[in-house]
Amino acid sequence: MTTGTSDILTVELGERAYPIVIGAGVLEELRTLLDTAHNKGTVGIVTDAQVGPLYADRVKRLVVDTGRSVSVHVMPGGEKHKRLERIEEICGSFLADGLDRTSIIIALGGGVVGDIAGFAAACFMRGIPFIQIPTTIVAQVDSSVGGKTGVNHPLSKNSIGAFHQPDAVLIDMALLQTLPDRELRAGLAEVIKHGVIADADLFAYMENESARILAKDSEALKRPILDSCRIKAGVVAADEKEHGLRANLNYGHTFGHAIEAVTKYETYLHGEAIAIGMHAAALLAQELGMVDAGFVARQRACIAAYGLPTTWPDLPVEETLAAMRKDKKVRSGTMKFILAEAMGRVVQRTDVPEDIVRGALDAVRRD
Ligand code: NAD
Ligand code: GLY
Repeated sequence: MTTGTSDILTVELGERAYPIVIGAGVLEELRTLLDTAHNKGTVGIVTDAQVGPLYADRVKRLVVDTGRSVSVHVMPGGEKHKRLERIEEICGSFLADGLDRTSIIIALGGGVVGDIAGFAAACFMRGIPFIQIPTTIVAQVDSSVGGKTGVNHPLSKNSIGAFHQPDAVLIDMALLQTLPDRELRAGLAEVIKHGVIADADLFAYMENESARILAKDSEALKRPILDSCRIKAGVVAADEKEHGLRANLNYGHTFGHAIEAVTKYETYLHGEAIAIGMHAAALLAQELGMVDAGFVARQRACIAAYGLPTTWPDLPVEETLAAMRKDKKVRSGTMKFILAEAMGRVVQRTDVPEDIVRGALDAVRRD
């Protein structure tokens, strides 16, 4: 459905269904979302030290326009701050500012803020509603939709958390204009992922439109964001708690999460690690006879067109394999891989011999 400048998708979860409002300059629609929300109390905004100074005042004014009180909590930005301590700090500042069971939390920022604020909303007063206002590509095409919230533990990424669906997701593509170039490129890895797992046309669009997309042309960016949200909303509606289909969204992540862990989250942004991980997954699928060299080259060229890495010459293969065995996707010692059969179609495999996995990691190093 299209309303004026915004498109609206719905995540179909029965009584917990929620809208994703998408467009350039649609931030003002926050007023309508708040006016129609069931909870009428004080609004708590969670943002980080980079996004806050850019957009928190505008969001605060929109909240005040609805006649509500507002409290803003600014946390330090970045993956290393995605820790349980932040939840206590957020709850503390919202308790001090009078938030209660009638309140709503707004997550204003990238995936780190969204995951933390969502988890705070899941815990505060045993659960209050929240609205996602994502400001990075990663958050606009992936993390703001689907209700996975949480923080990292030093021993394992995203290992403390809850499923807590937002009440609405408000995606204003105009907010991307201030996003640093490296963050933009890293986020686009997740769009390429959506093309490979579910939509060959989206993949072809990403191949053909890299120049306009990298120039942040709003018209060019609209399709990747809309299509990604449509794909993600469909998967989440079919398999909210990841009993099956939802794992397809982890294409490239079995390798990618291990790469992030081995490099202590300091070398690669999430999307950059996923880019290398997708290339490793393609090499593995080729080794297993599922795709040909043409598929691998095509996916690689598309990743490279966005300035993303596909190799890591110093990759410590054994350490990476050990990190893969520790990933929370491993069940009863069996690694799960999402592997392509064709562009736009993947399958889940738990039967891949470790020496073939080792071979794929070796190939990523030599490539
Ligand atoms: P991020 O939240 O750290 O944001 C990246 C950087 O960009 C930060 O420094 C931030 O301050 C800055 N920034 C954000 N928006 C900006 C803007 N509009 N203008 C200027 N600067 C801006 O990183 P991310 O890539 O958005 O998210 C990564 C996180 O998302 C990871 O923790 C990952 O685990 C999580 N994630 C969660 C899910 C999920 O389903 N919940 C899915 C994918 C990723
Ligand atoms: N980003 C993976 C998921 O939401 O399931």
